[in-house]
Amino acid sequence: MKVAIINGSPNKNKGNTFLFADSFIKELFNLRVETKIFHLYDFSINNCLGCYNCLLNKKLDCFQEDDMNNIFFEYIKADIKVFVFPIHSLFLPSIFKNFLDRLFPVFDPWLGMNNGLTMHPLKEEFFPGKIVLISSCGYWEMSNFDIVLNYFNNYIKYMGQELSGSLLRPHALAFRYSDKNNDKIKNIIQAGEKGAKELIDSGEISQETEKEASQEIMPREDYIKWFNDFYKQFDK
Ligand SMILES: Cc1cc2nc3c(=O)[nH]c(=O)nc-3n(C[C@H](O)[C@H](O)[C@H](O)COP(=O)(O)O)c2cc1C
Repeated sequence: MKVAIINGSPNKNKGNTFLFADSFIKELFNLRVETKIFHLYDFSINNCLGCYNCLLNKKLDCFQEDDMNNIFFEYIKADIKVFVFPIHSLFLPSIFKNFLDRLFPVFDPWLGMNNGLTMHPLKEEFFPGKIVLISSCGYWEMSNFDIVLNYFNNYIKYMGQELSGSLLRPHALAFRYSDKNNDKIKNIIQAGEKGAKELIDSGEISQETEKEASQEIMPREDYIKWFNDFYKQFDK
């Protein structure tokens, strides 16, 4: 089994999102699952130019000479594709959207129907596989993930994929800066490990584990106060 982790955080492996994803990823390595990590910010990924050359020429690689092909061929054959990203303006960081747009060569040029939807069929070289979402956001509310959840619930239908779970961390700064011996923080870290085990054993992350990962760390009013006190050290 192959896992491709696509990380769209500009803070790469030092950010809040990767810190939250860390226990999940470490558990995949513990379980000896073949796992490759791609930090999108290590690569140059141009915008899709919308030229349709990839579809019309029935080619899997884009003519643009950037780094997309270094990820593309690993991505298309992965059994599990883990999308790791912070919320930016209630959506994906733009580099992540670029990455998704640049997957366009997986489609055939003609139109067909699937799941009651008009769409370009998928080329046989593309293994749709399972998708897992791991995300963090700065505000307190879970509603900051609503747009990406809605987006990916639709996206997977077009890509013939299965959404196998999501680990979502609201008020991520409280996770980052809280004492790691705090029971809630320990429980959130364990949820990452449990999520990886469940995914590999049963093919999906349970709702119970998803809830543990997203649990409230502190009440909203406390978070606002804590954040503003924390911020004072940077205020010039
Ligand atoms: C440009 C930008 C836009 C953001 N927009 C949101 C947002 O809409 N909602 C939210 O809760 N957090 C937002 N955040 C906060 C980040 O999602 C949050 O700090 C996240 O944990 C950062 O992860 P990272 O350290 O991996 O980059 C935004 C941050 C940036 C830089």
